Amino acid sequence: MGTVLMEFTHERLEDLCSQVQSVAKQAGNFILSERQAFSSNKIEVKGHNDFVSYVDKGAEKLIVKGLKEVLPIAGFITEEGTEKRDDNPLKWVIDPLDGTTNFIHGMPFFAVSIALLQGKEPILGVVYEINQDEMFTAVKGGGAFMNGSLITVSKAATVKDSLLGTGFPYYDYHLLDEYLELFKHLMQHSHGIRRPGSAATDLAYVACGRFDGFYEYSLSPWDVAAGILLVKEAGGVVSNFDGGDDAIFTKEIIATNQEIYEEFFALLRRFMK
Ligand code: IPD
Ligand code: CA
Ligand code: CA
Repeated sequence: MGTVLMEFTHERLEDLCSQVQSVAKQAGNFILSERQAFSSNKIEVKGHNDFVSYVDKGAEKLIVKGLKEVLPIAGFITEEGTEKRDDNPLKWVIDPLDGTTNFIHGMPFFAVSIALLQGKEPILGVVYEINQDEMFTAVKGGGAFMNGSLITVSKAATVKDSLLGTGFPYYDYHLLDEYLELFKHLMQHSHGIRRPGSAATDLAYVACGRFDGFYEYSLSPWDVAAGILLVKEAGGVVSNFDGGDDAIFTKEIIATNQEIYEEFFALLRRFMK
């Protein structure tokens, strides 16, 4: 039994997880209610193709307030900077609205993503995809769930038989040519590629078997921390582009079912490294 389980019993993690779901749902309700009246003059530009609004910031404030009550000793890494207490080994990693570009254009697929990290390891993960009202949850060692039902990764045996998710490069183009070479190959040698626009949701979809694999580069910890635990707890494999299992802080991620991981990783190395 590892340190994590000695400090948090399974029951304690389950209890924390159900409280985190309430916080995520509350933020989701806020986001959805603001969507109705949202107008484009509320959009702020953080960087090239990087947008934010009072909705992301408001949702983050709600989440931080809620999580402080759930576990006062934990620190935070938050996308919008509501709290900066990232020197604590135990910390929440929060993306209050993953899929902001979808949100501002009125497209579906946006989610709340909350993970609890111990050191570099996620021990609790919640991804709430708001439009479908799908709550994806996992605690370390306890399996992965969608709206309370156990989920597992797919059984697709080859990339040729796989539906893949990805995120297109939209501000960091240093691997664009390599990315497009891999993309060209996968277009011709898979069931297809989708770009939903929310990395947290993409990972949740690998966890529940809708996607057989997902890959993207230039992601941040808040995009992937919760989703990584979902995929692992659902029986999948996650790595960075070097094959190392730390994909939270390395900006590059591959997440697949067990069966296609080796084949997919070899393709990634062939085209992108
Ligand atoms: C983005 C989404 C998108 C991914 C981007 C992320 P945001 O998060 O997850 O799918 O391609 O890299 O930054 O900005 O909407 O929270
Ligand atoms: Ca994000
Ligand atoms: Ca976000």
